[in-house]
Amino acid sequence: MAAKLVTLFFLLHFLPLKSYCSTQQSWIKAGYYYSGSETVISDINSKLFTHLLCAFAYINSSNYHLSINSSTEQKFSTFTNTVKLKNPLVTTLLSVWVGREDSPIFFSMINESSFRNSFIQSSIETARFYGFHGIDLCGVLPSKSSDMINLDTLLNEWRIAVASEAKNSSKSELLLVMSGYYLPTLDSASYPIESMMKNLDWVHVKAYDYHVPRIDNFTYTHAALYDPMNGANTNSGIKEWKRGGFLLSKLVLGLPYHGYAWTLLDPNNNAMGAPAIGPAVTADGSMGYKFIKSYLRSFPSEAAPVYNATYVVNFCTIGPTWINYDDVEAVKAKVSYAKQSGLLGFNVFQVGNDDNWVLSRAVVYMILVLENKLPSGEQSLISSNQYYQALFIVIFLRPAHVHILRILLRHSN
Ligand SMILES: *[C@@H]1O[C@H](CO)[C@@H](O)[C@H](O)[C@H]1NC(C)=O
Ligand SMILES: *[C@@H]1O[C@H](CO)[C@@H](O)[C@H](O)[C@H]1NC(C)=O
Ligand SMILES: *[C@@H]1O[C@H](CO)[C@@H](O)[C@H](O)[C@H]1NC(C)=O
Ligand SMILES: *[C@@H]1O[C@H](CO)[C@@H](O)[C@H](O)[C@H]1NC(C)=O
Ligand SMILES: *[C@@H]1O[C@H](CO)[C@@H](O)[C@H](O)[C@H]1NC(C)=O
Ligand SMILES: *[C@@H]1O[C@H](CO)[C@@H](O)[C@H](O)[C@H]1NC(C)=O
Repeated sequence: MAAKLVTLFFLLHFLPLKSYCSTQQSWIKAGYYYSGSETVISDINSKLFTHLLCAFAYINSSNYHLSINSSTEQKFSTFTNTVKLKNPLVTTLLSVWVGREDSPIFFSMINESSFRNSFIQSSIETARFYGFHGIDLCGVLPSKSSDMINLDTLLNEWRIAVASEAKNSSKSELLLVMSGYYLPTLDSASYPIESMMKNLDWVHVKAYDYHVPRIDNFTYTHAALYDPMNGANTNSGIKEWKRGGFLLSKLVLGLPYHGYAWTLLDPNNNAMGAPAIGPAVTADGSMGYKFIKSYLRSFPSEAAPVYNATYVVNFCTIGPTWINYDDVEAVKAKVSYAKQSGLLGFNVFQVGNDDNWVLSRAVVYMILVLENKLPSGEQSLISSNQYYQALFIVIFLRPAHVHILRILLRHSN
């Protein structure tokens, strides 16, 4: 019987299933580097990523060219060469910020053909100048239909320009991606789905910051994968993108490497949804994962954090402070969800908040398990618990193997 199990083990791990492997494009493991963070670029473990995004360039309101703050310019100019030292295959993108406060500039720019042209040419020149392989437009929210028609036009023109520049320069075409709201619609305004699908390499959904202590006066999850109470959650967002006709195979799931701390109105009422009176610990309550872990270590006698698999989130309470965040269990569950839903990959915000690469290693490991690609040397490193978990997932993902299992069991009787 033991020999049979060994055989089974090898069959499950090494039998290639053509239909699964050959149609599977390599999965995107992306992460943002925020140039305002303390993290040193050479400390980024770029082997854990396929794509790294350097954030942010801004749009100059007087000429619609990209502008990079002089204080961080050095980081942009060394980014690509530095992260390629550890992983020569990593692809880098320049991220352009057009969040809420910058949106009037952005929407007035895309409303005028000559301004769009200035922006497009400047974005391509800037990306090439600093050695990036692509451009990310980050933070545009669904807006009124005239704005979205202009966005549709911008994306068409941008793609044409990027293709033409590649031809002219005989370099490979720059990637063009957008980081969008977790829903394709907001206040009855909707993104130009078709144009986004046609012109962009992928869309990254910002699947976090749903409930934050500066706005909500009750504790709640900021990045729940599911919510039985129908609060904002990632699964419902992904379903909306699908319903809107967007291909899930062009969608990349955002993973937050931060959480939020609320101040409870009554420390004895620390349930989810309990009354709260604003942020705790930091000005807006946001805390990077690394900071959360060190904060928790400084209160060793307080209640231990719990993982809630219903919502896919970690919680903990320290006196009057209620914190929710994604720990290893949550990021692994989210990556499994993204894989099993046919998404294109994940995108971390932001890599500098990881704690000694614990989260990134966990997701990369999870992907290897899900793709059945663990190198044989790694198998001895798996605990038996993880082994059975992996085995279950492999069987679950590959119905053909259930058949093999049945045959083997039948023959062993
Ligand atoms: C860079 O400049 C933009 C706009 O000019 C500003 O909003 C932003 O805070 C600056 N960022 C840093 C890191 O200095
Ligand atoms: C924006 O462009 C104007 C005009 O070229 C220039 O004078 C100004 O310094 C630029 N601002 C920034 C923040 O780069
Ligand atoms: C730009 O927007 C204004 C209204 O804000 C509109 O009157 C104008 O026609 C628009 N221009 C173009 C080129 O779409
Ligand atoms: C590429 O070259 C053509 C012909 O010289 C020119 O019209 C076009 O503007 C160039 N495109 C870019 C993006 O430089
Ligand atoms: C929270 O805000 C709502 C609406 O703004 C208000 O009705 C309610 O009293 C507030 N609750 C607390 C505990 O402050
Ligand atoms: C998750 O939290 C909800 C709300 O507090 C609770 O009802 C549920 O039992 C929890 N589930 C698990 C698995 O802990």
